[in-house]
Amino acid sequence: MNFKPTQIMAVGKSVPDTVITNDDLTKILDTSDEWISTRTGIKQRHIASGDENSTFFAVNAAKDALSKSDLSGLDIDLIIAATSNPFNIYPSTACAVQAEIGAKNAIAFDITVACTGMIYALEIARHFISSGKYKNALLVATDTNSKFLDWSDRSTCVLFGDGAGAVILSESKDGTDDILALNVNADGNLGNFITMNLIGENCPLVEPAEKGVKKISMNGKEVYKFVVQTMPESIMRALDDAGLEPKDIDYLIPHQANYRIIEGLQHRLEFTDEQVIIDIDKYGNTSAASVPIALADALNEGKIKTPSIAILCAFGAGMAWGSAVVRLRKGLK
Ligand code: ACO
Repeated sequence: MNFKPTQIMAVGKSVPDTVITNDDLTKILDTSDEWISTRTGIKQRHIASGDENSTFFAVNAAKDALSKSDLSGLDIDLIIAATSNPFNIYPSTACAVQAEIGAKNAIAFDITVACTGMIYALEIARHFISSGKYKNALLVATDTNSKFLDWSDRSTCVLFGDGAGAVILSESKDGTDDILALNVNADGNLGNFITMNLIGENCPLVEPAEKGVKKISMNGKEVYKFVVQTMPESIMRALDDAGLEPKDIDYLIPHQANYRIIEGLQHRLEFTDEQVIIDIDKYGNTSAASVPIALADALNEGKIKTPSIAILCAFGAGMAWGSAVVRLRKGLK
């Protein structure tokens, strides 16, 4: 079989207008700007307000990415939405996006991989494209964590923000593959590190189920220890698969969960500050949206020069984690 190469066509994003600073949080929590910013690097986060939800941001991010490409909704034949807190379980977020952008030729489905959603979506979409059957894929990662946080749990609620990012992939016309390597992993034995239950209620004719807590709960220390060990291994494996070394890479666009984790990766790769894209101060941890939002902003603001080679990496609940080595072509927006 003749495998088709993948081209990264465009990147988009959408975040809520409402900004909540660390100082704002001191009105409802026993916390401080000093604690949050020194432990995490976060200064503020964008938070959904009123009826804004995951679908709303997904649609806006998708439209933003489409506007930066030569494609219309009708050209898209695959939509994958990565979300862990969709507005509806069904219809899927991907189907809602399909309707809003007029992508009537697309198949559409959601995946749930928490913060690693976009890396998994890249892995899935590149195989759809490489089969030759699908030509243009829209990947949207969207999370409104704020609706599922326990706003009295200061160890977790200060960490997250809301938003969506989108990436368009197409079958490459010139035979060059922009996905140089992908390394994805999961370990369900560590599922209790980060959880968000969605427990319904049993039929009234049977014994009732225990009432669950439908909020994000995290063992931050265990996540931290796990990530500083496994993330560099994943990156090195992806580099190895691509036949590259850290010195061949121009940029690192990591999941924005904690500044200290990012700093550790930077030292391991021996990258300069300019090579590492950090926006955790502005957005906090936006889960699956974190990597595409960082990439979209860095391209827009000229922090990333093209053409270049970048590592994208993410980790989160599951536990699931992964890395991609990608080519960012000249003029990519
Ligand atoms: N403000 C003030 N004090 C606080 C706050 C707060 N917001 N939160 C916790 N504290 C206190 C604690 O109560 C504790 O006090 P004590 O010593 O009196 O008990 C003290 O600060 C230290 O708390 P720790 O939990 O030990 O703080 P730590 O240094 O481990 O930092 C943090 C916590 C920032 C969460 C860190 O562990 C971390 O970043 N972990 C990784 C999280 C992550 O990467 N998650 C990504 C996945 S997200 C997803 O997949 C959905």
